[in-house]
Order: sequence, then C-alpha cells, then structure tokens
Amino acid sequence: MARPLPYMERCRERYGDVFTMRIAQEGTWVFLADPDAVREVFTGDPAVFHAGEANRILRPWLGANSVLLLDEAPHLAQRRLLLPPFHGERMQRYGELMTEIAQRNVESWPVEEPLRLWPQMQAVTLDIIVRTIFGLEEGERMDRLRARLRDGAEMTTAWPTMAAMALLGPDRVGASRAFRTRIEPIDEVVFAEIRRRRGATDLAERDDILSMLLQARHDDGSPMSDQELRDELMTLLIAGHETTATSLAWAVERLLRHPGAMARLRDGDEEYLDAVVKETLRLRPVLPVVVRKLKAPVTIGGWDLPEGATVTPCIHLIHRRADVYPEPARFRPERFLEQPAGTYTWLPFGGGVRRCLGASFAQFEMKAVLRVIAGARRLRPVNPEPEPVRRRAITLTPGRGTEVIASAG
Ligand code: HEM
Repeated sequence: MARPLPYMERCRERYGDVFTMRIAQEGTWVFLADPDAVREVFTGDPAVFHAGEANRILRPWLGANSVLLLDEAPHLAQRRLLLPPFHGERMQRYGELMTEIAQRNVESWPVEEPLRLWPQMQAVTLDIIVRTIFGLEEGERMDRLRARLRDGAEMTTAWPTMAAMALLGPDRVGASRAFRTRIEPIDEVVFAEIRRRRGATDLAERDDILSMLLQARHDDGSPMSDQELRDELMTLLIAGHETTATSLAWAVERLLRHPGAMARLRDGDEEYLDAVVKETLRLRPVLPVVVRKLKAPVTIGGWDLPEGATVTPCIHLIHRRADVYPEPARFRPERFLEQPAGTYTWLPFGGGVRRCLGASFAQFEMKAVLRVIAGARRLRPVNPEPEPVRRRAITLTPGRGTEVIASAG
C-alpha cells in the first residue's frame, strides 16, 4: 500500500513478467508486465474480463449507472451515449476555454516565492471540467456548483474515506449518515442544473457535455434519466479532474529538472509538446495498474488462470521495460519523436473497450495548460532533488506537490 512501485519492481525481478499477489479483502491479483499478455486482456471477451465489477469501490459516489462500474451490454450502451462529446474535433472547441482558465490561474501565481503547483493544477482542471460539463458562465451559480463539486472530488482522494470503503465495503459506507450528509448537497446542485437545462430551448446549439447528453438517445429512442445523467456527470468529474491535474503537476516536476526540454516548449515546438505529454504519462502514470475480474477461466501468457482472479495489466512495469524504452528511468521526450506510442506498450489510459473515454480530452488539456505555463513564466525548482512518488488514495502524486519559484515571462 505504501510503496507499490518498488514492490512491483522487486516482484518482477524475482518472478518474471507474470506474477501473483494475494491481497487482503481483494483476493488474487495476477500482474502482467508483458505486452503480449496485455494484448490478450484488452482484446479479450468483455463478458469474461469485467472492469466495472473491479471498480465497485467507487459506487457510492458515481452511482449504479456509471460507465466506469457497468459491464457487458449495459456498459457498452452507456459508453456509446457518452462518446460524442469526446470526439477529437470537439476538443478544439474546448481549447479556448482551457487556455483562458489556465491563463487566469498563472496570472494569480506569486512571483519569486515558493509555490506548490499541484493545488493550482487541481483548481485549473476542476474549472475546466465543470465548465465543459455544465457550460456555465462565471457567476454565483457556477461558484456554488464548483465549491460543492470540489468537496465531492476531495472525498474520493482522501485516505480515510477510501480506507473505510475498503474495510466496510461500498454498500455500508454509501448508506451511512455521515456519507449521505456529504453527498446530498452535491447531488442537489447537480440535479438542479440537469432540471434547469432540460428546459433550455437552445440545446442543439450548445457545446457543453450536459446539453449533448440531454439530446442522446438509448437504442429504444428514450432519453437518459436524471439519475443516469447525474451518475455519468459525477463519473466524468471524478475520473477526469484529479488524474489530469496530477499528470500536469508531474509534467512540470520533470520539466523543472530538464531545462533543455523546457526551453524547447518555450520555443513553441508543438511536436515536442506532444512528446512531453506522452513521456510524462509513461514515466509518471498516475494510475499504475488497470484491473479486470475474470468471469471464467482463461489462459493468458501461457498461464491458466481461474475464474474469480483479477488480472492486472501493470502500466508501471510495462512503461519501464528496457527493451521498449531504452534507459527507462530517464525523462526523454525525444523517444516519442523517434518511435510512436504503442497500443500495448504505452498504456496510461488502459485499453480495449474500457480505454479511458477522456484520453484525447486529457492530452489536449495538458498541452493547452503547459503551453500557457511555458509561455508566461520562467520556473525553477525550490529544491533541485526530484520529488518522490507519493501515493494518495488511488493516484500517484509528486511528493512535495511540485514546488516551484516562478519569475515573470
Ligand atoms: C491524464 C488524465 C487521465 C488518465 C491518466 C486517465 C486514466 C484512465 C484509466 C487508466 C482508465 C481505466 C482504463 C481501463 O480500465 O482500461 C480510465 C477510464 C475512464 N476515464 Fe480516464 N484518465 C484521465 C482523464 C480522464 C478525463 C479528462 C475524463 C473525462 C472527462 C476521463 C474519463 C474516463 C472514463 C469515463 C473512464 C471509464 C471508461 C470505461 O469504463 O468504459 N478520464 N481513465
């Protein structure tokens, strides 16, 4: 729990590319550090490889309709409804908003004094996701919505809540009064926004995700219910906010220690910016594994695995393979200019039918924010030593919160 990465590395050294851990409350996890084995999982039958079931710890927040928690036909049905807002060309329209939000944040940074960037990136990505989901202008309603959603997002990243979920199970915690009194104020504002938007007459012209989902239709022609909408909006918020903020904080943490790379960004090298984003997600993936629960016995990588086991494509170990990434511990964005990111060797967003819905959105957002930062401020580290990887509830974050000293332009 405390030092997952060195532990996984030692297991691989000792046992090879496929190894088993037996984890209290979780059962048997089979780690896969071999790209061919990972391909077998990502192209496998979704009726056998259940991801939703393996994520059930998040149910009290996300709700029973969440795309992240469903499997098989119900999963595909929700995923199909959610896809249109995440198509590549849509992202362009969100670009201006992303840049504007990043600029406003960067302008508020103190100059020539130590600053932790990670909380700033949290604020930026929260603003971006709330504005793109709900399409609200700044004002009192937006402030209230943002404040309550921030509270909701913080709950899922706090150790005590996640520990309670793991020990007591999501159903008991979800039904408890303590939990209900925290989630209800959030639901109240989200449902209010959904109801208000249902009455809007300009839905077809609006770009925000809620307006698009209100126009989406199930196979039988019926619209999404308020509860379905609420569950998916919470899912996008929780899945998209902290992950992107932390990846941005890592990008800056690495760039601070590689001034040559930072200089190339300042020169406006767009191809290199893309490579920086890819290399950050390779070297510092915020989620070190993805999980699938087996609903039937299968053979993977030549091993017979029983029903009920959890197979775990190990993002961290695959990303550190020296045969794919020479000198794997080095931050070297150039490697992605020399070779493209492979489907089964670059997995920060998982893969197959469960691949992250927000993958393009997140990379587009990271580029928009990094462009603003590199252009507007010169940064140096407070302490030249690299920041250690620290585990929060689920994500792996920079241990000192990406400490910087900024000076003007
Ligand atoms: C750098 C930022 C992000 C990272 C590293 C990340 C990573 C991931 C990973 C590893 C998964 C699980 C994939 C699997 O099991 O194979 C996932 C799923 C998902 N992510 Fe992301 N994500 C990021 C940003 C976002 C954003 C911005 C959104 C939405 C706005 C989003 C929405 C989702 C959703 C809806 C799923 C569930 C997909 C499904 O089960 O079908 N993510 N993400």
